[in-house]
Amino acid sequence: MTNKEKLTPVRKLDHIRICLEEEIERGWPGFDEVHLSHCALPECNLDELTTKITFLGHDFEAPLFIAGMTGGHPETKEINRRLARAAERFGIGMGVGSQRAALVDPALEDTFSVVREEAPHAFLAANLGIVQLREHGLEWVERAVEMIDANAIAIHVNFLQEAIQPEGDHDATGCTDALASLCRDFDLPVIVKETGSGISAETARVCWNAGVSAIDVGGWGGTSWAAIEGLRAAARGESGLARLGEVFEEWGIPTVVSICEAASTGGPIIATGGIRTGLHMAKAMTLGADLSGMALTLLPPAVEGEEALFQKIGEINHEFRVAMFLSGSRTPAELCSKRAYFTGTIREMLEHEGGI
Ligand SMILES: Cc1cc2nc3c(=O)[nH]c(=O)nc-3n(C[C@H](O)[C@H](O)[C@H](O)COP(=O)(O)O)c2cc1C
Repeated sequence: MTNKEKLTPVRKLDHIRICLEEEIERGWPGFDEVHLSHCALPECNLDELTTKITFLGHDFEAPLFIAGMTGGHPETKEINRRLARAAERFGIGMGVGSQRAALVDPALEDTFSVVREEAPHAFLAANLGIVQLREHGLEWVERAVEMIDANAIAIHVNFLQEAIQPEGDHDATGCTDALASLCRDFDLPVIVKETGSGISAETARVCWNAGVSAIDVGGWGGTSWAAIEGLRAAARGESGLARLGEVFEEWGIPTVVSICEAASTGGPIIATGGIRTGLHMAKAMTLGADLSGMALTLLPPAVEGEEALFQKIGEINHEFRVAMFLSGSRTPAELCSKRAYFTGTIREMLEHEGGI
């Protein structure tokens, strides 16, 4: 085990602690500049709407995805257990955090495998970084998927975070080829996932050409890895890296713009990054997303307990239903066909892209 690998479990716990204790949202996802057209005569019944969707051949009760956050340290097992129980209870999907730590040290496997034990029917996505994919290939992907009996593998791309970690991977060459090989040789769906800087139309095309099955845009405006790694660097007294983190807090494509750009090139699309309410989910769907992923919003209730987590997801689901009702949508498919108005910076950015 390399020094870098030994540090992974500690880093995982650091991330959770910082996300719970510090203000780590930066930037702006853009949802306040997207307005769904209000339908004053919706001609549907709020209590009879269906939020069911199908994603990658799997049935979901609502278009919500618990974005991959954790596992990899013994203290994270309980969080994954609760998140998985919620996924099972609400019939939604869930990702786990990077499984690298458990691939290096099998003693940590149970912090991940708990999710399949608790969510026998849910759509689960395994998770691995693209650099680990390039270095370890199909073997690690197969082990990661097997560990949680996953329905898909999410390959995360996070070069902003890597650039600000002292132990980060700075060489991104050969990653697209590694992705294409995986898509060619692996039977389950491959999802490419950013973690807070967004996916442009150009990158999305590269991903579809590599053969990926879905893109998670992981846009700018929610959890900021520049902020998190900057805070970690400051705590270690590494002022250069702390400053680098601060400078790059403003780097990224707002989630709304990223959804529009990625959806203009193909699909399915998962909208993640600063999604905080069921109304954001509804807006994301109207812009072309199939699912909405949430991480930071669900972390505090997941740490607090099952009841708090279930209540939070129940509220989010209800907000989504109300947005469907007020836009006159009886089904998610109808919501997708509704009109959105864009204002301000979002409008300017999308016009610049020729997006609207
Ligand atoms: C505590 C924490 C840990 C995370 N760890 C991972 C990870 O290991 N792998 C990954 O692909 N994404 C990871 N993410 C990123 C999320 O999946 C998501 O893309 C990002 O947080 C943006 O969503 P949010 O604004 O709702 O938090 C993590 C997020 C949080 C909050």
